[in-house]
Order: sequence, then C-alpha cells, then structure tokens
Amino acid sequence: MSDLRPTEILLSREQIQKRVAELAAEIRRDHPNDLHMVAVLKGAFVFLSDLARYMTGPVSLDFMAVSSYAKGTTSSGQVRLLKDLDTSLEGRNVIIVEDIVDTGLTLLYLQDILRARNPKSLRTACLLSKPSRRQVDVKVEYIGFTIEDRFVVGYGLDYAEAYRNLPHIAVLNT
Ligand code: IMP
Ligand code: MG
Repeated sequence: MSDLRPTEILLSREQIQKRVAELAAEIRRDHPNDLHMVAVLKGAFVFLSDLARYMTGPVSLDFMAVSSYAKGTTSSGQVRLLKDLDTSLEGRNVIIVEDIVDTGLTLLYLQDILRARNPKSLRTACLLSKPSRRQVDVKVEYIGFTIEDRFVVGYGLDYAEAYRNLPHIAVLNT
C-alpha cells in the first residue's frame, strides 16, 4: 500500500510567483519581438499560464504532450510523443516551457525534435532543476529554482495525477 502525501512546503506560492515574474521579464528582454512558448503537458500547464500572464507584449502559445514517467517516481528513460504542436516553428523564437528537468532525458528528446523544425532560436525554461539527477548534458537557459533530489508535487507537478492543483511546491514523503 502506498501512502504518499505532500508534507513540507519547499517553495511557497509567493516565492514561486516572484520568481516566475522575474523569468518572464528575463525571457522578454532576450526576445523583445517574436516569442513563441511551447509548454509540455501536463506538468507545465500552471507554470506556462503564470509565465504568459507576467509576460508583457505579444506572445503565442502552443502545447505538446509527452509521457516520460509511468506511475512511479523514477524515470524509465522512455519518452513518447502523445500530442504534437498545432503550429509550425519555422523561423520563430521558441521557448520550451517545462516543469522540471530531472534526468534530462525528456528535455533532450524534445530539444532534438523541435530543433529539427528550423526555429530561428530555441531555448528552454524550467521551473525546477534537480542537477544531481542528471544523466545527460542538456542546456536549460532559464531555471526557476535548483532543488535537491526529492520528489516534489504541486504547481502542475503530480504524483499519479494527484496534487497538480497545489499553489505551492511540496515534498512527497517517500
Ligand atoms: P526527466 O526526463 O527525468 O528529466 O523527467 C522529466 C519529467 O519527469 C518532468 O517533466 C516531470 O513530469 C517528471 N518529474 C521528474 N521529477 C519529478 C518530481 O520531483 N515530481 C513530479 N514529476 C517529476
Ligand atoms: Mg513533464
């Protein structure tokens, strides 16, 4: 029987909101004109919605879905494309918006397939990074918070589809 629950709050709603506003300003500064943000479902949906609302000026949005983890808390290393983008990336300034970079396998896969679509530029924004878990060398230009190797939920991140709606990020008591 699993009885995994969010326990301590790692990042409060206020800490997250402040940092996401900073990231939006930084991304806008680096992309003053064209900007196309591509969020990775489902985990990044909350991060994207805040990032988009803190963004000044025009921005277009699209979504894709991949599956990396099954139901547990460890990476299988297998990435499957479940939903592709609706619009072309040709000549666009693209930002991949992800919830968390853990082993890096999901992101490396996404960067490879999106780069092949000839965007003008391709950068990545992740709310969280767990550098101690990295298995591949993947470049992430915008990182919200660097965290320890703990399984976290909330603000879009789930455990078996639960807890995505928490406004803060909490540690699961594994
Ligand atoms: P990676 O391929 O190992 O980098 O895995 C990235 C994906 O695994 C993320 O997009 C999340 O969906 C999921 N993931 C990794 N760590 C966590 C965590 O601590 N909580 C919830 N999901 C996680
Ligand atoms: Mg994800």
